[in-house]
Amino acid sequence: MPRPFHLGWFVGNSFGVHGWNQPWTGRSARDWAKPDLQIDLARAIERACFDFLMMEDSLFVPDNYGGSTQFYLERALRAPKNDPMPLVSVLAYLTKNLGIVPTISTSFYPPYLLARQVATLDLMSEGRIGCNFVTSTAERAAQNFGMDAHLEHHARYEMAAEFVDVVKQLWGSWEPDAVVMDEERGIFVDPCKVRTVDYKGRFFASRGPLNTARSPQGQPVLMQAGGSPQGRAFAAKHIDVVLAAFNSVPEMKAFRADMRKRVAAEGRDPDSCKVVFMMMPTLGETEQEAKERLQRKLAAKDAAPEVVLAGMSSLTDIDFAQFDLDTPLAELTTNGQQGTLRQFLAQGSTLREIVRNYSHGYDRICGTPDSVASQMIDIIEEVGGDGYIIAGPLNRRYVMEVTEGLVPVLQKRGAVRSAYSHAHFRDNMMEF
Ligand SMILES: Cc1cc2nc3c(=O)[nH]c(=O)nc-3n(C[C@H](O)[C@H](O)[C@H](O)COP(=O)(O)O)c2cc1C
Repeated sequence: MPRPFHLGWFVGNSFGVHGWNQPWTGRSARDWAKPDLQIDLARAIERACFDFLMMEDSLFVPDNYGGSTQFYLERALRAPKNDPMPLVSVLAYLTKNLGIVPTISTSFYPPYLLARQVATLDLMSEGRIGCNFVTSTAERAAQNFGMDAHLEHHARYEMAAEFVDVVKQLWGSWEPDAVVMDEERGIFVDPCKVRTVDYKGRFFASRGPLNTARSPQGQPVLMQAGGSPQGRAFAAKHIDVVLAAFNSVPEMKAFRADMRKRVAAEGRDPDSCKVVFMMMPTLGETEQEAKERLQRKLAAKDAAPEVVLAGMSSLTDIDFAQFDLDTPLAELTTNGQQGTLRQFLAQGSTLREIVRNYSHGYDRICGTPDSVASQMIDIIEEVGGDGYIIAGPLNRRYVMEVTEGLVPVLQKRGAVRSAYSHAHFRDNMMEF
């Protein structure tokens, strides 16, 4: 029997436009503001017993590439994009077992507001909510929230640590048995079991208690994806599930080993912090068909390197339009996504070379469902665990290929779950 592993689905561009001008997308792009595509995704991956659906988010219209919003707006890249939180409540209502994880900015969300929203969603979903905490890296996002410039990278992580501290205390401000609903005594809530938190930190203060009750999970599942030393240190201390994007197995293995060492050094059981890797398999009826589909995808990237560069510009706050594609690059630094920039630049010396080699996750895996399943099982054996977060394009055809083609093979081999063992997302995630 292979080592069992977890599956999540990463909705890049979240509640935004998916598949504009792409084949196999039907009316999805025109209907982008309605929740139907994400509802179909949630139902399909729940049928396939995925542990969770995770929704990316960002809080600005990018203008980093070429110094203008034009490139992004014309192609619907990262804008328009709806707020994922209202969608989370719809998805929670229409599913029974799936974990649902919106992305939350620790730099811009007031902690009380966030703790209350997430507790509400956890109550509504009967214990299936998580948060992907991001520090938000973009200068433009900071300016949307009244700052001239964003906090420095280090300070953002200090703020994130404090944010987690406050929201955890707020979630704990109601004891598990505070709601008694005792009709005879006329008592709904036992007031002795609801307390202030009186938090006063460097960045945040909150009196508490929350004015919604304790949520079923008590502490919703916390995720994060920062790969810098500060990001890893933050994860080791506070986080239940780390998302990571690498395009080679040795890097995955080294990252997971490093995370487990850091988690143990914090006095936690290394198994209490799962690492899941971004994976974008290309599937086909035959090996040949899958190979050709992957080649077409890579050729499309080569033909339009500026799309990759514009994406990278918005993540790193560096205008890549200013550099010649074929001239070796000088050293670059950023106050934006540092881990992402480091990985990007490691792929070659010129931008053309880097774009050709780069992928945000493991995207060169292709084949029939049988062969992709074998490759995924082998990688997990080599890396040691804990799972994947599928991050291919969001269209119904791709969702079906994965959920009705690939996952049944993984299930037959005993590599992924065929049923949910627990009612709460946290318990399912910590099961193996
Ligand atoms: C799989 C994955 C998903 C991410 N999702 C988001 C997201 O939804 N929103 C966001 O602002 N940043 C997102 N990020 C960026 C990270 O949260 C983090 O800011 C970035 O990796 C840089 O962190 P670092 O400077 O510690 O390396 C994601 C990163 C990865 C690898």
